[in-house]
This record gives sequence, C-alpha cells and structure tokens, in this order.
Amino acid sequence: MSALLYYSEQDPAELWSEELQKALPKDIDVRLYPELGNAEDIEFALCWQPKPGMLAGLPNLKLIFSMAAGFDHVLQDPQRPPNVPIVRIIDNTLSTMMSEFAAYAVLGFHRYMPEFHTDQRNKVWGRRWPRYTAETHIGVLGIGAIGADVARKLLALGFQVHGWSRTKKSLDGVTCHTGKSGLLEMLPQCHQIVSVLPLTAETKGIINKRTLAALPQGAYITNIGRGGHVVDEDLLVALKSGHIAGAFLDVFNEEALPTDHPYWDHPNVIMTPHIAGEIVPRSCAHSIAANIKRYRRGEQVYGIADLDRGY
Ligand code: NDP
Ligand code: OXD
Repeated sequence: MSALLYYSEQDPAELWSEELQKALPKDIDVRLYPELGNAEDIEFALCWQPKPGMLAGLPNLKLIFSMAAGFDHVLQDPQRPPNVPIVRIIDNTLSTMMSEFAAYAVLGFHRYMPEFHTDQRNKVWGRRWPRYTAETHIGVLGIGAIGADVARKLLALGFQVHGWSRTKKSLDGVTCHTGKSGLLEMLPQCHQIVSVLPLTAETKGIINKRTLAALPQGAYITNIGRGGHVVDEDLLVALKSGHIAGAFLDVFNEEALPTDHPYWDHPNVIMTPHIAGEIVPRSCAHSIAANIKRYRRGEQVYGIADLDRGY
C-alpha cells in the first residue's frame, strides 16, 4: 500500500482529495492529515506550511510536494527530513493567474486608477494623462517560470519590459539584466517594478532604501513574490516622501498582516491577502501525479528544489 499525505490549513481538502484521487495511480491512497493510517504507507506528502515535526514521523517518505511555487514554507519546519527532496509546483494555471494579477496592478497604476478612485470618493471630476505605453518601462524582478510569463504578457500590452535574474537570461523583446549590478542598472529606467522572486538569503530585503532610491521619482511597485523581499520601514518612508507613488502588495512579512500595521490604512497602498496566484487542484493534481509517475519510472522529477541556491 502506498499513500500521499495531504496537509494545508488554508486549502479545500475535500476538493484536493477528489482531484488527487482521480489523477494519481490507483494504488496510491490519499490521506488527509491527521488521519495518517499506517504511517509506513506514506511515500508522498503534499503540504502548505507543514506543522513542525509532521514530516519527520514518516519513515518511508520519498518526496515532499510543496503546495506552492515557493518552498520557503517547508523549510520553516526544523525537523523536516533533510534528505527527502522537495518538489515545487510549476503549473501554467498558476503562472496565468500571477500574470493576470501583475497585468491588473501595472495597468491600474499606469492609468492612475487608485488616484481616480480617490477622486471619486472626493467627488472630484479631473483628468490625468498617462505616459505613452510604449515609453513606459516595467521591471520584472525574477523571470523564472512565473516571471517570464508576466514579462511576456506585459510586453503584449505594449510596455517596454525589463527582466532581472540571477543568471544571464534571454527573453524575446525583454531587456534582461543580471546580478546586483544589473539590478542597479535596471531600476533607474523603470516607472514600475513587479517582484516575482523566490525568498532566499539573497533576495530577502531586496526592496530596500537603496533599491527604492534607485527608482525614478513617482515609481510604483507591485510585490507578488514574498513579503520578505520588502523592508517595510523603507517602503513606508519612500511612500511618505512621494518618491514611491504607490504600492500593490499581495504578500507580507507577517501573514495575516497585523491589524495595526500602517499598510492597512495607507492611502497609497493596495493590499490583497496572498491571493495573486492560487494553486488550483484540478490543474495541479495532474502535475503532481505526473511527477509521481516519473519518480516511479526512475525518471527526473520536475521542480526539485535546489536547497543550495535556495530556490
Ligand atoms: P522560479 O524558480 O522559476 O524563478 C525564480 C526567478 O527568480 C528566476 O528568474 C531566478 O533567476 C530569479 N532569482 C532567484 N534568486 C535571484 C537573485 N538572487 N537575484 C536575481 N534573480 C534571482 O520561480 P517561480 O517563477 O515559479 O516563482 C517565483 C516566486 O513567486 C515563488 O518562489 C513565490 O515566492 C512567488 N509566488 C507567489 C504567489 C502568490 O500568490 N503571491 C504564487 C506563486 C508564486 P534565474 O533565472 O537566474 O534562476
Ligand atoms: C506560491 C504561493 O508560492 O502561493 O505558490 O505563494
């Protein structure tokens, strides 16, 4: 008997169970934590923010599937079995949702929608003139599975698109920049930036006093990567001075964001509760099942986390 253990406090367990059972080989049983049955049956785990110690008690665990593109939440468990590979989600539905969200945020800022909403509340009838789209530069931080899709869709909307990555990349129509010096060369050109980075030791706090100052006056930022990319105090100072005109934030250093955090009431901050991309069971169950089949055939599993580079 082989089993997959499912755990998430936030996702629809019954729906996941149904979709997984449909997609997985018939000899794999889906078990919803804490109903483990015989722990020795469990070869696969699919989890979001696993409870500390939860995975350590599974003697035959072969693969840990992160119920996310990022796997930083799995690393939070200090007792995680260190030799069991972590597999992250790479899924077109997820990339599409993230790109839709990024396009919405970028277009909203580009066409001054937050300002028009304020005008509406104040009964102000006033016009604003957007910058020519073809002369508007957007920097995408992280051009991996998701960021590359974001970049392509912003390009299709007619923007000048820049992309930033750790290693040298080439994307048709996108001006690519690499490494720390590449970031500082890119930022002054960008009217807006969108962060779709993973959270690693190198990217933690990447949106800080120095990088914000490198952006032109009145730039906008959108963060759909991880909250840990932003030094909140630095962003609040930059918003107060007007150097940064607005921020669209989907992810936060602390989630749920404490109710006394200044972002909640900030006139130039738009917030959403970490929903930019959803892990859709109907789509992702198939990529997880395909990976399990590959594993069983002794083939390479897609999306194995590289713990040394941190993503
Ligand atoms: P990938 O691993 O495919 O891509 C990561 C990108 O970031 C790559 O381009 C990589 O560079 C770049 N990168 C990593 N480290 C650095 C660095 N130090 N300097 C410059 N660039 C760096 O990840 P995905 O695109 O699949 O996902 C990205 C992140 O999006 C996830 O880790 C997660 O944090 C976030 N996310 C958020 C969601 C939400 O709902 N808000 C939903 C889904 C994902 P290189 O190309 O050189 O490797
Ligand atoms: C992810 C997320 O990383 O949902 O996929 O945050």
